[in-house]
Amino acid sequence: MGRLRNKHIILAISGGIAAYKSAELVRLLVKTGAQVQVVMTSGATEFITPLTLQALSGNPVHQHLLNPQAEAGMGHIQLARWADLLVIAPASANVISRLAQGQANDLLTTLCLATHAPVLLAPAMNQAMWHDQATQANVQILIDRGLQMHGPAQGEQACGDVGAGRMLEPNEILTALETQFDQGLLVDKTLVITAGPTREAIDPVRYVSNHSSGKMGYAIAQAARDQGAKVILISGPTQLPIPDGVTFVAVQSAQNMLDASIKAVAAADFFIATAAVADYRPAKVSEQKLKKQNSDHGLTLEMVQNPDILASMVQRFPKAVHIGFAAETEDIIAHAQDKLVRKGVSMIIANDVSKPGIGFNSDNNQVSLVTADDVQKLPLLSKPQLARQLVEAISHISHKA
Ligand code: C5P
Repeated sequence: MGRLRNKHIILAISGGIAAYKSAELVRLLVKTGAQVQVVMTSGATEFITPLTLQALSGNPVHQHLLNPQAEAGMGHIQLARWADLLVIAPASANVISRLAQGQANDLLTTLCLATHAPVLLAPAMNQAMWHDQATQANVQILIDRGLQMHGPAQGEQACGDVGAGRMLEPNEILTALETQFDQGLLVDKTLVITAGPTREAIDPVRYVSNHSSGKMGYAIAQAARDQGAKVILISGPTQLPIPDGVTFVAVQSAQNMLDASIKAVAAADFFIATAAVADYRPAKVSEQKLKKQNSDHGLTLEMVQNPDILASMVQRFPKAVHIGFAAETEDIIAHAQDKLVRKGVSMIIANDVSKPGIGFNSDNNQVSLVTADDVQKLPLLSKPQLARQLVEAISHISHKA
């Protein structure tokens, strides 16, 4: 029993002769203690029977998208959420092409769109099909989106050709799956993360705030916890469930967030500022609810600047590794590099908020990691996928002496 124990694995099998090897992969997965749900395309069932995979996985095989009986059991969205990992083995040229187009015309492709889990592909096809420009372009699209390709291997093929196109052996795929759950990158490390918006009171019932969802910070908290870190999540008000296994500190205003951060960062190795802190707060909080005035004049609120929590942590606790976010609409990298120096942080995670569908309050994000000597542009990823990559990158920044 190892890293896959109790992990939820979807093994999706598409139509290809290598499908017979998937039976062995199910057996190996079950042996490691993983929970396995098998999904088959209609092509896959031409090569191997669902009954074989049901017997090996111990679960009914999922074959259809629009099947009332199946949806009443574990529906496709539920299945997508259940997965810690989705592996397509074998991944045919057809499946790769449909995924590249973002199609959702069967259960397998729909799951790939709906899941936040990492998606791994073990391609298998004739060597000429693999080398075809169309397949190679589709593979590149999927890699750019953050899906992982494992293989194909070189060698003799079922059709008699020799070349690249053989599916990796089940034990090689198993190893690739196990490394996804590498744990311990942050063992013995304490991470403090700020997340969500802040609320700046105007009077007892009103406040100034922003639309930050907190999704990025919560995803980083979960990914850091999964790597063995002790995580303190300091969050403004959000709609998100509190992640298991993290110390949660609920705050309202920037001043509350600053106070909580000072307490937590004193003993931390990393401070990650994902919160959208309100830059200004009303100069005076009215003790009573402000009354509407019977006049033509509007209401003028005097605002004062809030403390910069990130800059303050850098000053107070210079030994910790500090990481900030920068949401920009132009000259993203130049602004991020400037912020890196100005705030004295080790890394700025920069995103272009002028592009629709990424960054602030969305489910996906596309960022560049900016350090003193490097700029690494990551592909467009779901926030949980991105969080896993960020945590890995962060773990390589060593604790300052
Ligand atoms: O200066 P700017 O607001 O663009 O910097 C963004 C980064 O600084 C984010 O990491 C944000 O969480 C952090 N920040 C902060 N306190 C503030 C404003 C921003 O910690 N008052």
